This record gives sequence, structure tokens and C-alpha cells, in this order.
Amino acid sequence: MANIPYRWEVSDVVIVGAGGAGLAAAVQTGLAKLRTAVITEVFPTRSHTVSAQGGIAAAIANMDEDYWIWHMYDTVKGSDYLGDQDAIEEFVKNAPLAIYELEHWGVPFSRNENGTIYQRAFGGQTRNFGESIAHRSCAIADRSGHALLHALFERTLRPDVAPYISYYVEFLALELLRNPETGKVFGVVAWDMVNGGLHVFFGKAVIFATGGSLKNFRTNTNALINTGDGLYMALKAGIPLEDVEFIQFHPTGIYGVGNLITEGVRGEGGYLINSEGERFMKRYAPHVLDLASRDVVSRAMAMEVREGRGVGPKKDHVLLKLDHLGKDFIMDKLPGIWELAYKFVGVDCTKDPIPVEPTAHYQMAGIPTNVKSEVVIWDGEKDVPVPGFYAAGECSCQSLHGANRLGTNSLIDLVVSGKQAGENAAKYIIEEDVPAPLPADDFWAEKYGNKTYEKIKELFDGPAGNYKYKDIFYPLRDSMQQNMSVFRIEEGMKEELKILDELDEKFSQMGLADKSLHFNSELVEYFEMRSLLTLSRIETMAALNRTESRGGHYREDYPERDDKNWLKHTLVYMDEDGKIRFDYKPVRMKGRTAPTFPPKKRVY
Ligand code: FUM
Repeated sequence: MANIPYRWEVSDVVIVGAGGAGLAAAVQTGLAKLRTAVITEVFPTRSHTVSAQGGIAAAIANMDEDYWIWHMYDTVKGSDYLGDQDAIEEFVKNAPLAIYELEHWGVPFSRNENGTIYQRAFGGQTRNFGESIAHRSCAIADRSGHALLHALFERTLRPDVAPYISYYVEFLALELLRNPETGKVFGVVAWDMVNGGLHVFFGKAVIFATGGSLKNFRTNTNALINTGDGLYMALKAGIPLEDVEFIQFHPTGIYGVGNLITEGVRGEGGYLINSEGERFMKRYAPHVLDLASRDVVSRAMAMEVREGRGVGPKKDHVLLKLDHLGKDFIMDKLPGIWELAYKFVGVDCTKDPIPVEPTAHYQMAGIPTNVKSEVVIWDGEKDVPVPGFYAAGECSCQSLHGANRLGTNSLIDLVVSGKQAGENAAKYIIEEDVPAPLPADDFWAEKYGNKTYEKIKELFDGPAGNYKYKDIFYPLRDSMQQNMSVFRIEEGMKEELKILDELDEKFSQMGLADKSLHFNSELVEYFEMRSLLTLSRIETMAALNRTESRGGHYREDYPERDDKNWLKHTLVYMDEDGKIRFDYKPVRMKGRTAPTFPPKKRVY
């Protein structure tokens, strides 16, 4: 019998994830002098936020007149009217202050001649309610996420915060601890990847900032760690996920590789061309061309390919042209994408266009939260907060992005929602004088964590298994790419569910050949696969249910948006025995003070 070491400890706050949202939350809990454990799979500055490129949206009006209400209008329209308007209003109003705070924390923004923060145009950003293009994305060349993440990490190292923060690097969180009677969240069980063994982090409050999950697509921009483990843990703890069918494909992934080429290229004047050299976006978005929202541009690219105007030997992608911007401009404003295109496909974009294809980029879905970043469960009439549980950034769903997120709204989302989560968790602990959860001596024999403990023992004691991670991972991402991509259709999604049954069967026969405790990557992959398979299934089921097209969810068999039947959020639950169940809740159409933006035909 394997002897699995375990330890436990008690903090005030447990934060899972050390990307932008987790760090923004940690700054607040540290400032509130709360002992905070930050659990992360990778060193904080390697978190996926580091790869964000183009900018951070806020109506600070440095390039042209701009107001939060225009930002709100664009975000609601971009969301295909599925975004909750009260949350969007709160978010866009907070955005400018967040930018100035980041500036004071040392984020090295690119500058205009007059010293103000440089802002570039991005898809779907307009002035005066769609009249003309806006420049709203505050940029640090094309390495915005990198600069932001480092500044936030540095902020947690300052003397007013650092004494309260402990980083637990290379820990994989496996289970959210939630009392089934009270519903209260009080900690997380994690696997210590370096030393081997389980580590239970008890906390008066838990904040999830676990990021995205799109490694289940063949072409994606996501880091290897983006396997949706946070979403899986929430589901397992009886918390639903919201709007899982909405997956964003970014138009410009490097062909065959998937890496991001920022939309900022098009914001700076680059454009897409087909095999005839034609700037084809004029047929799909005559007003703003290449600066339409991402769902629109990705579908246009896919249409060009379908109709035989793709480039390359397989005629399966298009080109992004930017050489006309000039070498000096590219090297000043877009140095990162020059390097990526050169390294990954050998293209010098100061001379030649970059081959691009849509690539899975962002999950609009997440753990439902309110404007305080409290996790909430819909009781049929209202959202009820889950005591002690908060979520921020891509793993959460406030819902700011509805059915389609606008470019650069994600970085500002993670800064704003991360801060909300940290501030409100601190307020909850201090104002309600929450007692420290103390574990019973026979903790593992009790109801909490024992399933994780038993599963790990079973894996260490069991056979090597008939299948390896790769036997499931590659067919999974190929089939999801085929059946759950830019275009979806009933037969394809039904086929996907059959494939998922087969892959689940293989997963049930997956075991560990490596029985070592230290750096056991097979063990980590086992748990990551569990999350990926579950998420793929619920995404497909939710997409099959939604018989309309909206934002990132386009059904060829139901090509129109259907507000009468589908202006509502999907909620998906997983029962104890793994059974999936769906519910729906209304979209909040009323802003806090702003007028409602009612659904209209969405044209760009
Ligand atoms: O295109 C980009 O730079 C990506 C930004 C985003 O997803 O917000």
C-alpha cells in the first residue's frame, strides 16, 4: 500500500492561481494584513497572463474622446447581448482607475509624444455608440500581459504586502473543500508536485483565479497549464458553471501552431487577405472591416477557406499583411509578433504576410460571480452568494463578456475582478469575524478530501493502465477542433459526445507507470485529463442544447440569434455520481445607472 504523505496548514485566505487575477487579489488581502496562501502550478511570472499581447481596455481618452458609456455599449454589443449590463457598467467605470493604479505600480506603458499612455484600436471598440473606431487599449508594445504580470508580482513583494503572502509554487489544486450542510467553502486540497504528497490549505475564504481551459482544442493560444482544473473543482463541489458553450476563437493564430498574433496588428492598420490578395473583411463588416469583433472575423476567415479562397497547399488559411506599416513601426510597436512569426513559421513580417487561422483563445464561461466577485448560485429567483468563495479572471463569469469577449477586456477584467475578490474576501473575514477552520484529527477519514486521498492511493497502488495521456489528449483535441469550432452542427456535436464516451472509457483504464512521489508528471496529467474530458463534455452538451447562434456559438442549423427563447444564461451542474444537469437564468439587462442597451441586429 502506498504511503501518501500529507500536511495541512491554516491561513486566512487561500488563493488558487498566481496569474493577473490571483496577484491582484493577493495585493488586497495582503494590504488587509490577512495571512494569504497563494497556490500555483508554475512560478507566478510564468502564469498564462504573461502571454497577453495587445493591451488593456479603458476609456481614458488619450487618443480621442472616449467615455465609459461607449465602452459599456461596445461590450454589451460585443457580448451579443448576453452580458449582464449591471456588471458591465461597474467594470467599465472601474477600468480607468485601475489603469492609473497600474501606472503608479510601475507598469511601463508605451507613451505618446506628450507622455500620456499610448492606446491602440481593437476589434469592436467604437466612439459614439458605433459611429467610428475608438483607440481604447492601453498598450505596452505587444507585451502587455508580461509587463502587467511582473508589476503585479512586484507589488506583492513590497513591505506592506509581502509579510502576509506565502507562495506555494508547483502545487496542483485538486479539491475545493465545501461544507455540504452550510455550503461554506473553507479550503483546498493540493498535490505538492516537487516533494510529493497532499497538502491541505484551510482558509476562512478561498479565491479561485485558475484561468482558462482551452487545451482541449488542437489549435489554441493557451498555456499547457490551462486545463480547467479550477472549473472542475467548482463543479465537483456542487457549484454550477455558466455559459460553457461560448468559446472564443481568436482570428489570428499562427497557422499550424496556434500561437497568438495580437489583434493589435489590425488595430495598427494590418489587414487580412485571401488567396486573391483581396481584403475580404469588406464583405463581412463593411463599416469597420478587420476591426469587427472576433467571432465575426473568425467566421469570415472560415468562410473564405470554405469557398476556396484559402492560401497554402491545402488552401486552409489566410494571410495577415502588415509590411506596409514599415519596419521601424513594427519593431517599435509590435516587436513580439515579429519575433513569434519569425521563430515559428520563418516569416519576416516586415516583408511578408503571416499565415494565420482562428485559434481557441478564451472561455467566456466560468464560475458564476456577482459584482463583488462573490461566487453565486441561482436559486430560481436570485443569485445567492456561496459563503467564503470568490472567483476572478477567466475562470469566473460575472458575466462581462456574455457570448463573445472584446479584445483587451480580459486584462482589465482580471485586474478589476481580482481586486474585487481580494477586497471583498478581506471584508467578509474581518466584518464577519470568520473563525479559522480547524481540521479534525481524523481528517482523512472524514467527509472532506478523503476521495482525493483514496484516488491517489489507488493510482499509486494500481497497475500502469492500458492508456497514456497522449492516447486520449490527441484524439480529444482533434475531435473538439472538428466538432466544436467556429461552425457547429447537431450531427457533429452528437458525434463528439460519442467520441467522448470512448475517451472516457480509455480514461477509466489510465494508470501510473511512474510510482515516484517527486515530479510525477503522469499523476498531474491524470488529473488534468479528468478536467479536460469533463469540460469538453459539458461544453458540447450545452452547445447542443442551445438551438440558436450567438457570439462565439454559431450553429449552421440555427444560424439566427433567438432572443425570444435564448436570451438567458446556461448553468450546468454535476451531481455526486457525475451526472450532468442543466438550468438557465435570465440575463440582467438593467445597468446600475446607465440605460439598458436592448438587443439589436449586430452589424459591424
Ligand atoms: O489580440 C490580443 O492581443 C489579445 C488580447 C485579448 O485577448 O484580450
